[in-house]
Amino acid sequence: MSTPKRIYLIGFMASGKSTIAAHLAKQLNWTAHDLDAMIVEKAGKSIPQIFADEGEEFFRRLERDCLHDTQEWSNSVIATGGGTPCFWNNMVWINNNGSSVYLQTTVNTLSKRLWKAKYSRPLVSKFTNKIDLHTFVSQKLTARNIFYTKAQHIIDANNKNVAVICNTIATILQIQHLCKK
Ligand code: S3P
Repeated sequence: MSTPKRIYLIGFMASGKSTIAAHLAKQLNWTAHDLDAMIVEKAGKSIPQIFADEGEEFFRRLERDCLHDTQEWSNSVIATGGGTPCFWNNMVWINNNGSSVYLQTTVNTLSKRLWKAKYSRPLVSKFTNKIDLHTFVSQKLTARNIFYTKAQHIIDANNKNVAVICNTIATILQIQHLCKK
């Protein structure tokens, strides 16, 4: 297996993509990128504000544009947004342009994390009780798994510390030798 130029981390909101991207990039001496942060920079406003002002369709176009902006990058770990693989032909594009890793996490873990961080995420900020949020996560994850499971690699990211997850990714991509000791 040759060394990938780009690693795309995919998974549901709050599955740990940005945290893992930052840690893994540091280990590899690569650069971490966050698609959400790129979108915010391009739009000049926060994600809740983009959804409120322009709507989701506009956000998804920006998201695709930002994804395509990563095409020429090398030595990059890219944290995608939770919805990125599920729109346009983004999942096919990702698989054609880098190595994809799905950080699989349970509904319980995701719901607990999202309850604490819901205000920065327009798809979940409306929930006022934990049961409704749990139901939403369960249904959305089932629908999105059709896309997420098209990733080239699927790893169990549930209840594991960041270092263990990064080590697992480096092992499956056969790039352990690049990691700092
Ligand atoms: C979204 C996930 C968010 C962000 C936007 C939409 C989604 O990213 O792109 O709020 O559709 O799941 P995170 O996965 O980083 O929370």
